[in-house]
Amino acid sequence: MSFVNTEVQGAVAIVTIDRPKALNALNPEVLADLKAAFEAIDQNTVRCVILTGAGEKSFVAGADIGSMSTMTKAEGEAFGKLGNDIFREIETFPIPVIAAVNGFALGGGNELAMSCDIRICSDTAVFGQPEVGLGITPGFGGTQRLARLVGMGYAKQMVYSALNIDAAEALRIGLVNAVYPQAELMDAAMKLATKISRNAPIAVRNCKKAINDGIQVNIDDALVIEEKLFGDCFETHDQREGMACFLSREKPKPKAVFTNN
Ligand code: CAA
Repeated sequence: MSFVNTEVQGAVAIVTIDRPKALNALNPEVLADLKAAFEAIDQNTVRCVILTGAGEKSFVAGADIGSMSTMTKAEGEAFGKLGNDIFREIETFPIPVIAAVNGFALGGGNELAMSCDIRICSDTAVFGQPEVGLGITPGFGGTQRLARLVGMGYAKQMVYSALNIDAAEALRIGLVNAVYPQAELMDAAMKLATKISRNAPIAVRNCKKAINDGIQVNIDDALVIEEKLFGDCFETHDQREGMACFLSREKPKPKAVFTNN
């Protein structure tokens, strides 16, 4: 039995963390299942992924506190690496990943959402990094990605004071892109994922790589990254057809399968 379920609808995969009794907390088994779920996604047919949590209460309420409670320093560091490696795989997953945050996104839950390309949430969502209250630092990227997303000042305030924020405040600081009534969240996520999935897949992948890789380096090197990925799109079917259709005023036909030619 897996703690993570995947359902494919057209070109969109919906990956659901399914441990609602523990508010979808991440223990080593859940993390392993999450890794396996992403590795099993058929990147030839799926163009966008939605990541969410089972139940109405929680996206992910953090790393599993029971599992961590007796860890040694070495085990704690290894657990941090386990989470970081998987979250980095999600962050660098070739196709876009949307976090549909349907409730608590605390600690490892907020960190997981931040590893995704885009975050949208329900009006019931709560975000925070409560780790200092438990005697630890955020350990799955929270000390790094939060500051990159919302700026150093607010990130430090949230992390040092274990401040939880609601959906409206998450929207205000740019942690999420949009807030929906709980019942409408998945439809909104699907609508966005479908819109993304209708665009040229090589171009969308290259945009993700250009933005992710470019932000890590100085602007001159970043622009070289962009030039290479821009150039890589030429001679592809979608570039040829997309531009020819624009010039002839025809609608481009959607591509059924990802092919690099
Ligand atoms: N780990 C393990 N179990 C958890 C959990 C967690 N992070 N969060 C919730 N649960 C479990 C609870 O123990 C409880 O289980 P039982 O029914 O068996 O007792 C069940 O989920 C329901 O939780 P509550 O009864 O507490 O539900 P609530 O509605 O009263 O409160 C909550 C919800 C505010 C989210 C509260 O559960 C909570 O504060 N959870 C912990 C949040 C947290 O501190 N997360 C950070 C963890 S550290 C981390 O993530 C480190 C890192 O960066 C890698």
